[in-house]
Amino acid sequence: MDRKIRMSEEFARKSMEDYDSGHDWWHIVRVRNLALYINENEKMADPFTLEITALLHDTADSKFLKGDSENGYKMIGEFLDTAGMTNIRDQVVEVIRNVSFSSENPAINLSDPVLQIIQDADKLDAIGAIGVARAFNYGGFRNNMIYVPGEGKGEKNSSTIGHFYDKLLRLKDMMNTPTGRFLAEERHQFLKKFLEQFYREWDFGTQEIY
Ligand code: ADP
Ligand code: NI
Repeated sequence: MDRKIRMSEEFARKSMEDYDSGHDWWHIVRVRNLALYINENEKMADPFTLEITALLHDTADSKFLKGDSENGYKMIGEFLDTAGMTNIRDQVVEVIRNVSFSSENPAINLSDPVLQIIQDADKLDAIGAIGVARAFNYGGFRNNMIYVPGEGKGEKNSSTIGHFYDKLLRLKDMMNTPTGRFLAEERHQFLKKFLEQFYREWDFGTQEIY
């Protein structure tokens, strides 16, 4: 069991080497810890399957595979076979297909508790202080503006502050588990505090958050 976890850690590290630093190994570690913590409270999922899925959940990201996620899923399946985890292969690959909020794939089996927990853990790591840090890190990686005045409430946002409205501020209402919802609340409040302070500095507080 331990060996399978170590092999999955190694596979995740390797496949994410070229990703941006907001998607680095420590994102995986945080998601694993959050997922296991949620499951300790909720007792919904098999902890081993959950841990393996958490470790592999970002290894087929289309943003970093030139749009070719299918090949990523194939590689995950092959890895699981090689590592002696054929028994959980289909479940793990299916969860990873459905885990991303921005996924173009329609969700197939949303009732899988492993998926519900990984989604919560992944969303929690996108909000709060870490979420703010990751957003600006990603925006810098893409050479996006930190803020474009007027952006926020409208449809098409290009700045990182705009991304708060497109995605981050919506995440707390999309949590699947009670523990996830509880943890999201504090992190959501921090996002709002951050925006308040940001606008206070930007134009002396004349801008409303919403
Ligand atoms: P996931 O971890 O579910 O794959 P994404 O790949 O969409 O999520 O995003 C990874 C991180 O990058 C998150 O913290 C997210 O908020 C941030 N991010 C994604 N798109 C943008 C953007 N346009 N501007 C700023 N941050 C972004
Ligand atoms: Ni992730």
